[in-house]
Amino acid sequence: MVVKKIISSPLVGITVFVTLSAVIYRFYLKHDPQQRLFTAEELALYNGTDESLPILLGILGSVFDVTKGKSHYGVGGGYHHFAGRDASRAFVSGNFTGDGLTDSLRDLSSTDVKSIVEWREFYFRSYKFVGKLVGRFYDSEGNPTKSLKGAEAKAARGAQLLEKQKAEEAKQPSCNSRWSQDEGGEVWCDTGYPRLVQRPLEIALTGKMSKRCACFQKHQLDQAGLEVYEGCDYLSNTCRV
Ligand SMILES: *[C@@H]1O[C@H](CO)[C@@H](O)[C@H](O)[C@H]1NC(C)=O
Ligand SMILES: *[C@@H]1O[C@H](CO)[C@@H](O)[C@H](O)[C@H]1NC(C)=O
Repeated sequence: MVVKKIISSPLVGITVFVTLSAVIYRFYLKHDPQQRLFTAEELALYNGTDESLPILLGILGSVFDVTKGKSHYGVGGGYHHFAGRDASRAFVSGNFTGDGLTDSLRDLSSTDVKSIVEWREFYFRSYKFVGKLVGRFYDSEGNPTKSLKGAEAKAARGAQLLEKQKAEEAKQPSCNSRWSQDEGGEVWCDTGYPRLVQRPLEIALTGKMSKRCACFQKHQLDQAGLEVYEGCDYLSNTCRV
């Protein structure tokens, strides 16, 4: 009678339910293929040399099965150096030799980090996610590390800056341009005059200075920071570059 009373008490019922749910959830996580954790050594086995094993690739610590892209990721393929490892940095550096094949994002610009995050999205869309690589981006429990959160935040900042740059530059139309082997390069404005100007957000975005060609109207030509193309007349609509 007493036992029955305790069991039917709503508080006990809730406690039992919560405890059971937690146990089931834990069990599920452990056996969920999505949660498989790899060490770097384990991942290295799936580098495409053993034809009986799938080919796996890591990017930002997410591991994907890229076996269906064997012609690219298998031995002799153009992307073979990505197989069996996390070479996140090489997606933007293009450096596939030695230390270039690293997951270190040190000193990369926010646009570069943004590109790597976009590559990861590409793999989520195109290939099967199979687990996480324990190391720089995931801890031994499979939780994201500071490095991963930092990379994602940096990519988001890069995206914001790019939007801002686009909005800023839309205010001052870009020059038309063409290039041909025979005639070389040429920039021109349908209305206005071509000037070289600094792209102020470029340093923050890429770590490098960069200029673009924009078209200015006559009354704007005395603004600071406008550079006339070398060898081009002050009021010419077209300049050779
Ligand atoms: C590539 O994978 C094979 C087995 O699948 C392994 O024996 C070999 O050591 C791996 N290579 C590297 C460089 O890790
Ligand atoms: C690739 O990376 C390695 C190691 O950091 C470096 O020694 C080499 O100069 C780099 N190669 C290119 C082409 O950047």
